[in-house]
Amino acid sequence: ALVTTTEMFKKAYDGGYAVGAFNVNNMEIVQGITEAAGELKAPVILQVSKGARAYANHTYLVKMVEAAVINNPDIPIALHLDHGDSFEVCKSCIDGGFTSVMIDASSKSFEENIALTKQVVEYAHDHGVVVEAELGTLAGVEDEVVVESGNESYTHPEEVEEFVSRTGCDSLAIAIGTSHGAYKFTPEQCTRNEDGILVPPPLRFDVLEECIKRLPGFPIVLHGSSSVPQEFVKIVNTYGGKMPDAIGIPEDQLRKAAKLAVCKINIDSDIRLAMTASIRKHMAEHPDHFDPRQYLKPARQAVKDMVAHKIVNVLGCDGKA
Ligand code: G3H
Ligand code: 13P
Ligand code: NA
Ligand code: ZN
Repeated sequence: ALVTTTEMFKKAYDGGYAVGAFNVNNMEIVQGITEAAGELKAPVILQVSKGARAYANHTYLVKMVEAAVINNPDIPIALHLDHGDSFEVCKSCIDGGFTSVMIDASSKSFEENIALTKQVVEYAHDHGVVVEAELGTLAGVEDEVVVESGNESYTHPEEVEEFVSRTGCDSLAIAIGTSHGAYKFTPEQCTRNEDGILVPPPLRFDVLEECIKRLPGFPIVLHGSSSVPQEFVKIVNTYGGKMPDAIGIPEDQLRKAAKLAVCKINIDSDIRLAMTASIRKHMAEHPDHFDPRQYLKPARQAVKDMVAHKIVNVLGCDGKA
């Protein structure tokens, strides 16, 4: 059924796992994600960015998600607005069938963030919709705002209680060192292990623990949590792509966060990589193919396999539907 995240997060918090929030932009992505979640009996969040609405159209996305709900009757599915940047875009999604919205006013001042978040919460709650808010800024590209790594700011734990109580938000995204996109860290920020493999700086679990202490029972969200699997990067680079130094968050760190109060983990870049690696390889190996179904079918399967791996090995939400 199409649901809010309230029940999902309560069960995830108590059960020591997280629900995956995967970005959707077309039919193959919606199908790949929900087929994996359906077969593994996992709750799932399908999230739509402003860019996705501009690309695919609000109504197409909502109707595709509704189709996925019909085809996967045994699992809870939430439809969430990712990085809403104004009251208007949140209202449009609340009025248009979403069950959850994010208002991301994290680049504004503390007081402005509170005021805008509160305005969205009041409208959303009047319409049975839940709200995710954000404190702190991630490095990477967020809503067309590029934050150079080094200029990100971790969430200040001493602000979270006041923020949550004054806004009434239902979940809170925090910044503990994750980052958007496929280039989360520069090689200079990383160390190298004995095999010469780049090891990114560890997440700030001290900041997370401090937030949890101040918000007992409250669901925390992690953005920028793709792992940028090096096997995908290698395939992309082998078959004509050029993604030097693409690097993500190690899966063991996300697994650790999922066992704590982190109830929602956002993944978009790994979907893009899985599809692109599959399509590049297919095109190189089958230069005669020109029917989109020939390359989109394996690409959809690649999304499904990647999501199944996350559900079982990173999120721990298999069998929790
Ligand atoms: O946080 C950003 C998400 O990966 C969505 O990206 O705005 O390019 O659709 P997008
Ligand atoms: P990634 O770029 O790490 O997949 O993060 C996605 C995200 O946070 C969407 O809001
Ligand atoms: Na958790
Ligand atoms: Zn994000």
